Amino acid sequence: MLKRCLWNPPRPKTFLLGRLWDLYLSATTYTDKGPKPDGGRFLSFDHITFWVGNAKQKAKERGAIVVKGITEESDEHGTIRYAIVKTYGDTTHTFVERSKYKGLFMPGYHPPLHGDALLSKLLYDCYEKIKTFQAASFYCARMGFEPLAYQGLETGSRKVAAHVVRQNKIIFVFKSAYEPNNEEMGEHLVKHGDGVKDIAFSVEDLDTIFKVIYQHTNALVFAAVPPAKLDFIDHVVGNQPDLGMEPAAKWYERNLMFHRFWSVDDTQLHTEYSALRSIVMTNWEETVKIPINEPAPGKKRSQIDEYVEYYGGAGVQHIALNTSDIIGAIKNLKARGMEFLKIPDTYYNALRKRLKTAKVKIQEDLDILQELKILIDYDDNGYLLQIFTKNMQDRPTVFLEVIQRHNHSGFGAGNFKALFESIELDQEIRGNL
Ligand SMILES: [Fe+2]
Repeated sequence: MLKRCLWNPPRPKTFLLGRLWDLYLSATTYTDKGPKPDGGRFLSFDHITFWVGNAKQKAKERGAIVVKGITEESDEHGTIRYAIVKTYGDTTHTFVERSKYKGLFMPGYHPPLHGDALLSKLLYDCYEKIKTFQAASFYCARMGFEPLAYQGLETGSRKVAAHVVRQNKIIFVFKSAYEPNNEEMGEHLVKHGDGVKDIAFSVEDLDTIFKVIYQHTNALVFAAVPPAKLDFIDHVVGNQPDLGMEPAAKWYERNLMFHRFWSVDDTQLHTEYSALRSIVMTNWEETVKIPINEPAPGKKRSQIDEYVEYYGGAGVQHIALNTSDIIGAIKNLKARGMEFLKIPDTYYNALRKRLKTAKVKIQEDLDILQELKILIDYDDNGYLLQIFTKNMQDRPTVFLEVIQRHNHSGFGAGNFKALFESIELDQEIRGNL
């Protein structure tokens, strides 16, 4: 349902109000959730798996390609049922039913090897002295994750090392191959560099979820650094190549019975150089949000194009982590050495002017938000605060977002321009604009 159907006064004449008005018109919210699934329920994001260079650090057309059908694995802590399907690019979704499992993470995983504190110290020293990029230790040192579980040679896993790190309800898994000729992981690494391989959901009643799919197919603790205060995965964004957004959105509708939650087009989401379109997909209960982006033609190369080129196709662009205290979280993450995108002061000057006439009142101190470079997006009923990290690896592909919501379920469309201009600044430095 288009907002413009409800109310249609003339476009304001001043520049800023005009821009806001364009945004208001170009964003589309949806009320149609499609048919309610007969059974099966998506509860939340379960975990995200990265395939990285160093872990220490077809079915019917348009159907879901099942990588692994419903599988049960057990150990002394109980039984987990899961299944894996392909989504966009080389990315997969795992559905995990864990109600009958009480272990650390999954069967086959063991507690971190050497005791948290010692391992942390070793990895931290290693990172500081050698400056080597080791994914798991980097996420622990900089983003405040702690080791949860481990799988590797010492635990009987001969082919793949996996380090699982956790912060509250956020679980990241870093996997890398031991053997020089692991074809699947090797090809993925050569093609994509470090990236997100799998987005796992916690689900209830996996059998019913799979019935729908089959219809179409045939860590580390650092005492010296402050806590990162991140609570759960808010949303996970996928970038698609040209004209890839609609097919990806339809894939979620058809196979997972997701519906469209919100969308925005390139008439609003653009800077002087680049533009994008986005559709947000969600499950019936709206507990899992998957925005899908595609580039739109612009003067220069869009950062979505840059992503797709460096990632070698569609893939996860960013993971947003929710906090109830973004000021505390960002102060602490900066103290831990995390780097975030820089936002010019002109953004805050314009924001202060706009907020003077806004219905919503921002509870946080604007001076502190400006100092920390936290972005604000709002409507009449609420607002969100968000900030973006620089890329988490060498290739300009995956990055993270930290977000705090105050009665606002958007994704920061009002900040697109500021965000993209900041990314374009880095893109220009990389010589890719
Ligand atoms: Fe986001």
